[in-house]
Amino acid sequence: MMHLQHDIACCISFLFILNLAKANFQNYLNPQRRTNHLSDNKFSFSEYMESSDNDEKDRTSISQWNQMYQNVPKTTIDTEQASDLFNKNITWESQWAKNIKFGQVSAVSIDPNGNIGIFHRGTRVWGLTTFDNENIFDKRKGPIQENTVILLDKFGEKLLEWGAMKFYLPHGLTIDTHGNYWITDVALHQVFKFDSKDIARLRKGEYNQETMFSDLKPSLVLGEAFIPGNDDKRFCKPTAVAVESNGDFFVSDGYCNSRIIKFNAKGERILKWGRTTYAYAERDPVPNAFNIPHALALASELNLLFVADRQNGRVVSFFATNGTFYKEYKDFKRIGPLIYSVAYAKGRLYLINNPSSYNIHVQGFVLDVNSGNILFSFRPGQDMDSPHDIAVSEDGSEIYVVELNKNTVYKFLQNINTSVQTGNSVVRTNPHHEPAPLTDSDMNNLTGGTTTATLVLSLVTAAVIFIALCVAIAAVLARCQKRGRLFQYDESAVEFSKLVE
Ligand SMILES: *[C@@H]1O[C@H](CO)[C@@H](O)[C@H](O)[C@H]1NC(C)=O
Ligand SMILES: *[C@@H]1O[C@H](CO)[C@@H](O)[C@H](O)[C@H]1NC(C)=O
Ligand SMILES: *[C@@H]1O[C@H](CO)[C@@H](O)[C@H](O)[C@H]1NC(C)=O
Ligand SMILES: *[C@@H]1O[C@H](CO)[C@@H](O)[C@H](O)[C@H]1NC(C)=O
Repeated sequence: MMHLQHDIACCISFLFILNLAKANFQNYLNPQRRTNHLSDNKFSFSEYMESSDNDEKDRTSISQWNQMYQNVPKTTIDTEQASDLFNKNITWESQWAKNIKFGQVSAVSIDPNGNIGIFHRGTRVWGLTTFDNENIFDKRKGPIQENTVILLDKFGEKLLEWGAMKFYLPHGLTIDTHGNYWITDVALHQVFKFDSKDIARLRKGEYNQETMFSDLKPSLVLGEAFIPGNDDKRFCKPTAVAVESNGDFFVSDGYCNSRIIKFNAKGERILKWGRTTYAYAERDPVPNAFNIPHALALASELNLLFVADRQNGRVVSFFATNGTFYKEYKDFKRIGPLIYSVAYAKGRLYLINNPSSYNIHVQGFVLDVNSGNILFSFRPGQDMDSPHDIAVSEDGSEIYVVELNKNTVYKFLQNINTSVQTGNSVVRTNPHHEPAPLTDSDMNNLTGGTTTATLVLSLVTAAVIFIALCVAIAAVLARCQKRGRLFQYDESAVEFSKLVE
């Protein structure tokens, strides 16, 4: 009897160690794939941080922000110098798409053919009563009946319209390098992928006009419709998506969560990081403490992901492969306390700010990605009103900005033939933050660090136990053959396995 218990225990420990070794080995071979499992929490009310798109709320928060930053006297804000950055070589095409009617325009993205995708809210408006206190949207309002996705060519002619009866409150649109459409809806708390082949079928008119709304289906849906959460199945008002050429993608989540999650092409989580900044309580938030991660951009050639951390007034970059912090870009004297969106092309970052009580132009900025210097600013004749998203063509020659409340889309042309000016102003980057793993106690622990030593140790232990087990099994088999039975379960085996844990 004693022998049998021992054998079972050995067997259990063998399987346990074998598994451990296997997991370690996989991690060892593929460190990027280390998964951090999110705890399966229901949404906790205390984590809500309501702040809508609606700028009335932003204005309150700006006064809070000003209290925090009151030691920065307004007179030090050199608006003369800021307007010097205005570059006449980035010109506004005032007639572009002038006659097309939009609702609140929340997102813009350029497709692989150079056409411009626009996501807008039709007749729906995000107001102060759109959500209840628990971030739940009143679904009785129904889906938006107008088409919410519009594709324009570079001359501003409409090529395609779709997305009626599908979305409740549009936010993010990213068209990836393969032409797939990635959409976030903050009322649904969901992320959708629509395949390029289905969009191509739409363009060719291959769907039945009557049933088109139900026939066009997303190929991937993440999140639970209308149910906010901060666990591994739900988002809370997810804002944006950025997609790598291999299909891996990042989601910024969002208005009420403060995290970035990386998924593989199948929609399985690979990485996640980020925690909440308690509204304006942290003057110099750590790199992964977000206050509305509002937009994303990728620089594949630099292995960098850029996060527009809206209410913290900064762009934070992380290595796309492992989520390690790289650099922070902010300049509240020239850009102000709010950065709504970010785009990247050819070594330059393109940003938009938003109205603040500082005497700062509401406009676009172009930064050098390495130095962080502001190179230029640009705007359509006068200041913008409430710019919400920005997109730039791969070569940097075309820049598009959408205005939320003015329901407008701006096209700018940049003369990329002129040489890069080296900046005449300096963005405060943070020299103290060397690339280092992010380890925030509450949310993120990118441990998973398995060394060669532990790997070898596991393998050796496994081998030794395997040999011992073979010997033991041989002995048991011999004995059982005598007794005529093979196995008998015993509670004490379970007790033994507790010790193994
Ligand atoms: C605009 O472009 C011209 C050349 O076309 C160049 O000489 C000039 O420096 C540029 N201006 C700015 C502000 O970059
Ligand atoms: C830039 O240069 C190319 C040829 O070198 C020319 O075709 C193009 O018109 C120029 N763009 C601008 C905006 O001047
Ligand atoms: C993440 O990747 C970057 C770039 O490859 C590297 O410099 C950094 O050390 C990595 N961080 C960790 C924690 O492995
Ligand atoms: C992260 O994991 C390490 C090793 O498992 C542990 O020592 C550390 O306390 C953890 N950190 C947090 C913040 O949970």
